[in-house]
Amino acid sequence: KANGQSGQNFEQRKWEDEVIHTALPHFGSLDKDAKSKQPKYDYILDEEIQFVQQLTIPGVNEFLQQKEKSKLHEHEDENKRKYRTLLESRKTLPIYKFREDLMSAIRDHQVLIIEGETGSGKTTQLTQYLFEEGYCEADTEDEDEVEDGDDDDNIKLPDGKKKTKKKMMIGCTQPRRVAAMSVAARVAEEMNVKLGREVGYSIRFEDCSSERTIIKYMTDGMLLREFLGEPDLASYSVLIVDEAHERTLHTDILFGLVKDIARFRPKLKLLISSATLDAEKFSQFFDDAPIFRIPGRRFPVDIYYTKAPEADYVDAAVVTVLQIHVTQPLGDILVFLTGQEEIELANEMLLERTRKLGTKIKELIILPIYSTLPSDMQIRIFEPAPPGGRKVILATNIAETSLTIDGIHFVIDPGFCKQKTYNARNGMEALTITPISKASANQRAGRAGRVAPGKCFRLYTSWAYQHELDDNSIPEIQRTNLGNVVLLLKSLGINDLVNFDYMDPPPMETLRLAFEQLYALGALNHKVELTKLGRRMAEFPLDPMLSKTILASETYKCSAEILTIVSMLSVNNSIFFRPKDKTLLADTARQAFFVPGGDHITLLNVYNQWKDTNFSTQWCYENFIQFRSMNRARQVRDQLETLMERVEIEILSNPADTIGIRKSICAGFFYHTAKFSKNGMYKTIRHQQSVLIHPNSALFDQIPRYVIYFELVLTTKEYMRQVIEIENEWLRETAPHFYKTKKLDDDDKVKKMPKVLGKIKAELERNYS
Ligand code: CDP
Ligand code: MG
Repeated sequence: KANGQSGQNFEQRKWEDEVIHTALPHFGSLDKDAKSKQPKYDYILDEEIQFVQQLTIPGVNEFLQQKEKSKLHEHEDENKRKYRTLLESRKTLPIYKFREDLMSAIRDHQVLIIEGETGSGKTTQLTQYLFEEGYCEADTEDEDEVEDGDDDDNIKLPDGKKKTKKKMMIGCTQPRRVAAMSVAARVAEEMNVKLGREVGYSIRFEDCSSERTIIKYMTDGMLLREFLGEPDLASYSVLIVDEAHERTLHTDILFGLVKDIARFRPKLKLLISSATLDAEKFSQFFDDAPIFRIPGRRFPVDIYYTKAPEADYVDAAVVTVLQIHVTQPLGDILVFLTGQEEIELANEMLLERTRKLGTKIKELIILPIYSTLPSDMQIRIFEPAPPGGRKVILATNIAETSLTIDGIHFVIDPGFCKQKTYNARNGMEALTITPISKASANQRAGRAGRVAPGKCFRLYTSWAYQHELDDNSIPEIQRTNLGNVVLLLKSLGINDLVNFDYMDPPPMETLRLAFEQLYALGALNHKVELTKLGRRMAEFPLDPMLSKTILASETYKCSAEILTIVSMLSVNNSIFFRPKDKTLLADTARQAFFVPGGDHITLLNVYNQWKDTNFSTQWCYENFIQFRSMNRARQVRDQLETLMERVEIEILSNPADTIGIRKSICAGFFYHTAKFSKNGMYKTIRHQQSVLIHPNSALFDQIPRYVIYFELVLTTKEYMRQVIEIENEWLRETAPHFYKTKKLDDDDKVKKMPKVLGKIKAELERNYS
């Protein structure tokens, strides 16, 4: 094991063998030099300190305890008491003092950029203030129009009165599902309403809102999809594009679209809210919209760097947690890791090491948080640490700005995050662990200074901070596949995607590839216009390859099976449970599901067997299947089924026809064909890349000549995951635009994209100056 054995640090790491240090030996002392070079927002200004001191607010928890003790409101039911407590704590948020100013700025300006430190109350309070100001009241001038137009809006009640027409909504977008859910839950609580009624959320495959909803949190991707049904978003009176600094692909596209609708809906209010980053850039984009800055509540944070680079940052993070725990006063710890696997690993390591230390140390509660964690587990991170104990939160960069957890005094920042990267040359998308930007590093450090002065331990050197980290992260639009977004924009009638109003334009090559793929899939015609097929594909919130697969199932009369397969693929790789102490049993159980044809058919088999047990938990348990994932697949499937009605595809079941099923998959995934080659490897047809069948695949020890894979994963080798066997004739049948030769054996040549695509390229090049 190379765990941090690099030089000086190793000796000091050995402290678990009962050598408990009183200082934090493996860090350099505070790097004064680096400190002075930090951007200004990393350090608190004097007047800010004074501002903070004036506030002297009791924390929410103290407040709760006080209330409990005084039993002032004993007569009230628990809900009311909670509501009052929350109401009090809402008043302690930094944004509260600016409520009037903020509301009048919103009255005066159609577009407003709101910048404020994470935790100042932007996400949870703005919507409520706006609601209280009456922004949900339907606009009276529009009323006639609504009454004439749509009778459904004015339902006659039995007593003869007309039901008042629907109120307008306040929408607030979030880049992350978890944030949308947890923030909606919090606001519902603060308003003392049931989640899903007046306050709701909408995320892909899960709509927790209703007719009554007036405050709606949603992922940016969901709002984008709402344009399809309502191109002017007429049901919203206010749109808040929150966490704008994250610059996700969907947020960036939203910028262009909402800017446009704001022009012809003068009453629409548009708020762009962001952490303390990039406000000027947003203002510029939105025609010099004014910026409203909410002064933050922020305490100084001392920053420590490691003396030498860390060989294994997960191990280093774990050691640092324990060092803080034994040497530092109470206060919670937040550790930034890149994903679920790392978080689980760190969790295990911490459990094991704290167990060894037994009662020598105070209680340490370990809490993971990542986007796919079940929501009941997610809520736990907000619970206070037990008296005399400490909690440590192991989080992805979701905790950087989108979630605010009170009580954090220490931050451990290994300096990495998982980022999507896209190789526009070969169209390969991958999630890679990448160094964060300076802006991110500073956001992370800031998490330690919300309630009191804090400390941030950076598991990299100060030299690395200054020389190796970029100032800002690259916006997602410049490093991702655009197929889905291009399809969506085309179906919104936006044809000129080159001259779309981008804040930062995507690389031309990426746009070209998206056109090319959509053409190959039949979603665009040779004039690069949306086809009927393309329009139907756009209805699905899925990758175009998956949407095409679903639509192709109509031809092969197996839509029921394809829906199941697509749903199972969407809960990717978490179907089979493989506990470390029972790998053999788990593998046998998994292999028992294998059926000829390949992994997609195997997934179908798992689902159908589960369905036959009436979706039994026990059955999952006995067969090493993850019940939660299955449930999620079922939920996704239900959602997709309702979308099928919209595109008018009948649900037909034909489970025995595995050829039809595989042909449907072929119609969507022909880009992902690989052929067995002489050296014992497979070669992808498009890029002649050498790949292997993943060892977990049902086809692992067979050697089908042609396969189609769902995705490539790079571990020790480049593996194809979720593989089916196909016949090469199927390619020509299902993808006539793409495969020319009758038999791939002839020369394995892929049909040249027609000349028209050359024209697209020229056109793009002309427009990109
Ligand atoms: O959006 P911004 O970062 O400005 O702040 P916010 O998300 O509105 O959070 C304001 C406060 O609400 C936080 O400091 C938390 O105390 C609280 N909150 C919470 O307790 N639970 C949540 N799920 C969200 C916020
Ligand atoms: Mg927020």
